[in-house]
Amino acid sequence: MMKVPFSTFAPMHGEIREEMLAKFAQVYDCGWFIQGSECEAFEKEFAAWNDAQYCVGVATGLDAIYLALKAMGIGAGDEVIVPSNTFIATALAVSYTGAKVVLVDPDEETYNLCGKGLEEAYTPRCKAIIPVHLYGQAAEMDEILAFAREKGLYVLEDCAQSHGATYKGKKVGTFGDVGCFSFYPGKNLGALGDGGAIISNNEELANKIRCLGNYGSTKKYHHTYLGTNSRLDEVQAALLRIKLTHLDDYNKARNTVADKYIAGIRNPKIRLPKTGCDRTHVWHLFAVLCDDREALKAHLEERGIGTVCHYPIAIADQECYQKEQLAHLPVAEYIAASELSLPMYYGMTDEEVQYVIDAVNAF
Ligand SMILES: Cc1ncc(COP(=O)(O)O)c(C=O)c1O
Repeated sequence: MMKVPFSTFAPMHGEIREEMLAKFAQVYDCGWFIQGSECEAFEKEFAAWNDAQYCVGVATGLDAIYLALKAMGIGAGDEVIVPSNTFIATALAVSYTGAKVVLVDPDEETYNLCGKGLEEAYTPRCKAIIPVHLYGQAAEMDEILAFAREKGLYVLEDCAQSHGATYKGKKVGTFGDVGCFSFYPGKNLGALGDGGAIISNNEELANKIRCLGNYGSTKKYHHTYLGTNSRLDEVQAALLRIKLTHLDDYNKARNTVADKYIAGIRNPKIRLPKTGCDRTHVWHLFAVLCDDREALKAHLEERGIGTVCHYPIAIADQECYQKEQLAHLPVAEYIAASELSLPMYYGMTDEEVQYVIDAVNAF
């Protein structure tokens, strides 16, 4: 029986092994591990790749969102709109600031926020909105930006799953005030540990985020803010620089797999993902919906195919949010009950893709 994992680094890390090890040796020998030339170079290169002016490397994607919200002055008494079906980190970052999470259901076709439901969720305490480009697809930015402009809200794009996705030809992360990225290993651009970054065209915000992540300091031992320690280290930045040079190829390969899934999967019990108009998808996850998700998962497992559910419990139903009494929303509940992500990784062979297609069609 063929075995197809949900994800594997093997083809990618095999190809760049020598390059990565040589770079690691270079940083190792250099002996400078925090706030050095590798992070500075990565920030410049990642900003340029996204066509943004500024980039600040931080320790995680969660920190990127948290620090950006803090830099916007968001805290207790404020509200922030968050999609009801995102990964918990988006909501946690808001909660850490002391602000209240206000959940809004996504569009049923793209699983991402659009203009729908925003007006109903809005109160004068609302200070920001966080569109998440979930699974790798850009959210409906025109509608979100128009709403934010009308209400005077900050727009923070959560790009943790969408490195390189575009909306009307422009990369995500460059529409709002900041774009926040995660470099968790499994992301489309993944470090060999934790990492994150924010991109922005707002110099003041970028500088404040950098300062907040450096103990609230821009001058050694002088502390302007009650900051924290959240920096992208030299080893991760150096290795990310190498992967960044291949990221377009990595995303292209994921697209090829997704195209084959979409052309090949024909099963009335499976709902395939749809890409909205004027945007691209970088297929961080190939998320299908199925009313009998557990049976589908078991069926694929029996055939040696790995799958993961993103995410089985909606934010409003998480134990940690029971005191907040967040809105239990139907689209989020439906996705949590029926989503299953099929195998998706760089280097997946045609045979592996076809094997998954046949197994899904046989369900
Ligand atoms: C949508 C979303 N936001 C935020 C994060 C947080 O990123 P990190 O794991 O780097 O903290 C993740 C990934 O884990 C994510 O998928």
